[in-house]
Amino acid sequence: MAKIETTRLLLRPVSRNDVADLHDIFSNLDAMAYWSTPPHIDLAETEAWVEAMMSIDPREGEDFVVECNGRVIGKAGLYTFPEIRFILNPNSWGKGYAQEALTALVDRAFSVHQLPSVDADVDPRNEASLRLLQRLGFQVMGRAPRTWNVGGVWCDSVFLRLMSRGHQVR
Ligand SMILES: CC(C)(COP(=O)(O)OP(=O)(O)OC[C@H]1O[C@@H](n2cnc3c(N)ncnc32)[C@H](O)[C@@H]1OP(=O)(O)O)[C@@H](O)C(=O)NCCC(=O)NCCS
Repeated sequence: MAKIETTRLLLRPVSRNDVADLHDIFSNLDAMAYWSTPPHIDLAETEAWVEAMMSIDPREGEDFVVECNGRVIGKAGLYTFPEIRFILNPNSWGKGYAQEALTALVDRAFSVHQLPSVDADVDPRNEASLRLLQRLGFQVMGRAPRTWNVGGVWCDSVFLRLMSRGHQVR
């Protein structure tokens, strides 16, 4: 699996050595406020995520650990094509890192994987993600209520899409 270098970041394949850093993120209540699963309580939950990330069929998706200055600050990728998902440690928010990582992932989705579009499914309360995606050119395609049951609470979805240039409707 490829590594992607951007101005400030390295996006690389996950390894079992990343479990502790990723657990810091997946157990963080702020980072997980609008995720599709509850925050991780046990390290074993994060270990299972890491195993799942490592066993993605490259024909079906790819997911990266995001590093900045040698430190793991998050995870981003298209775990299942064409849906993009991303999460950063709150101590790395507000610096444009997510925008930098997603710009590279979207470019790769269109140029390497030749996807006609990249999609996102975001909780309508998740303003930071909606702002980020719309800044990257994603457009709202629709909304649906009660799409995710997260720890017994129903959450809604906003569906967004970015078309590749070659597939835009003229
Ligand atoms: C979604 C998430 C990654 C966004 O993080 P973020 O740091 O706000 O996103 P960006 O990289 O776009 O950074 C934008 C902010 O950095 C600031 N910034 C600073 N330097 C910047 C730079 N060089 N370039 C761009 N923005 C910069 C911007 O002004 C902006 O600040 P604002 O939000 O106060 O307007 C983060 O909130 C998160 O991890 N959330 C939890 C996980 C989640 O909900 N994921 C979505 C599930 S699909």
